[in-house]
Amino acid sequence: MTQSPNDSISNSMAQETSRNLGPIVLLGPPGAGKGTQSKRIMERYLVPQVSTGDILRQNVIQGTELGMAAKAVMARGELVSDDLVCEMVRLRLKEPDCKRGYILDGFPRTAAQAGWLDAFLDDQFFDKSRATRAWPIVIRLDVDYNQLLLRISGRRSCPTCGRIYNVHSQRAHVNEVCDVEGSKLITRNDDRLEVIGPRLAAYQELTTPVADYYQRTGRLHTVNGDRAVDEVSAEIFRIIEDHSA
Ligand code: AP5
Repeated sequence: MTQSPNDSISNSMAQETSRNLGPIVLLGPPGAGKGTQSKRIMERYLVPQVSTGDILRQNVIQGTELGMAAKAVMARGELVSDDLVCEMVRLRLKEPDCKRGYILDGFPRTAAQAGWLDAFLDDQFFDKSRATRAWPIVIRLDVDYNQLLLRISGRRSCPTCGRIYNVHSQRAHVNEVCDVEGSKLITRNDDRLEVIGPRLAAYQELTTPVADYYQRTGRLHTVNGDRAVDEVSAEIFRIIEDHSA
């Protein structure tokens, strides 16, 4: 049975707004469900999703200096430079809505970015902008390779609200039109077949060491992302609640 992304909202999982969550890092290859699950976490805990991919795409659309530097790199499926991405994340995390916590979707993605995040969290503790040193809850979504290809090739998103759909598993109620905004759904520029390979390769080469680092430091939670969206969300919520209990 196909499930609309909006069914999750009408399921109305109770919202949790009392906890300080700190940083939640979602790792996983392209198409693993990071964006989908980030939106679920955001709805439940009312903390913002900080998606480096979304911010970069927004900059490309607006034609900013950052967007112009990132556009061709993203179109090839490669990673944007660490300096540009870290500065972009630094500015975003200074926003007041990140005070109780935030979901890092697609960051850190290289060893240098993971080191930068550690230093950033140390700094917040030393300059007393936080009372305690925040340790990220790191969750990696594992999904079978063929399933990833299916998910990426079937993905559609709303250009207005960013809601994510899939022609195979999470269709809009009306064909190719956002359930909420009524906008015509679009396919991402980097979801083309020739770009998917380089994106998966970049993950394997540059982001696997990041997961290894969190594993060695005892912070990595691995979740089987090859299940129904609700099942994956339920496990993620359990991990978050165990941490902040
Ligand atoms: P980014 O936007 O981060 O893309 P990505 O990591 O490739 O991840 P995706 O957005 O493709 O997948 P997802 O895991 O979010 O899956 P989704 O929930 O959409 O990065 C894009 C580019 O920006 C990079 O290539 C790079 O150039 C640049 N960039 C970004 N961050 C950077 C950084 N830190 N450093 C340097 N460069 C950076 O789900 C996929 C599909 O599957 C959807 O259609 C969804 O409906 C469906 N789906 C989800 N879950 C399920 C499920 N459980 N069952 C069935 N279908 C499902």
